[in-house]
Amino acid sequence: MHKKSPLTKVQVLRARARANIDEGAVTAGYAADRTAVLRLLDESLATELICVLRYRRHYFMARGIHSQTVAQEFLEHSNEEQGHADRIAERIVQLGGEPDFAPDTLVRRSHAEYVAGDTLAGMIREDLVAERIAIDSYRDIIRYLGDEDPTTRRLLEEILAVEEQHADELADLLVAFPAEIAEPALAGAHRQR
Ligand SMILES: [Fe+2]
Ligand SMILES: [Fe+2]
Repeated sequence: MHKKSPLTKVQVLRARARANIDEGAVTAGYAADRTAVLRLLDESLATELICVLRYRRHYFMARGIHSQTVAQEFLEHSNEEQGHADRIAERIVQLGGEPDFAPDTLVRRSHAEYVAGDTLAGMIREDLVAERIAIDSYRDIIRYLGDEDPTTRRLLEEILAVEEQHADELADLLVAFPAEIAEPALAGAHRQR
């Protein structure tokens, strides 16, 4: 006796592919709730953009405090978050959505916060908190997606791995630049103003 194949028949695949061709990459087999996925991607995009800006600010501030090592790390993270934002925006378009870069609603849509920070240790700590928020929210979304949208899941898994790297690097920096050392350096930076 033949077991029913779990795969869709070729004729059905072909017919479905022709119907709703204007939907591009979104096919009848797309199992996830597209509206929900687009909303989660929108929040992730906002989170990445907030992280780009926060790391950018921290890069210039750390340079002012004459801490080249930390500044370099902030700049690298800022650029990598920009890369994440671009990949998420690209996926939003593939799913038939529109990436929202509107600055006035960014903070509200983002999971992570924009904290300016005014000491080296303070900036590192805030960045670590933001990374930990991103890590948990990506992990949640990945679990939610399950097998229903493997492409988005894989994209977010790749981003998650980088956020974990970021958090790890920041944790190391926090050990190397504890608050006691960073505070006087900042006082110096303030005096220069
Ligand atoms: Fe990121
Ligand atoms: Fe990150």
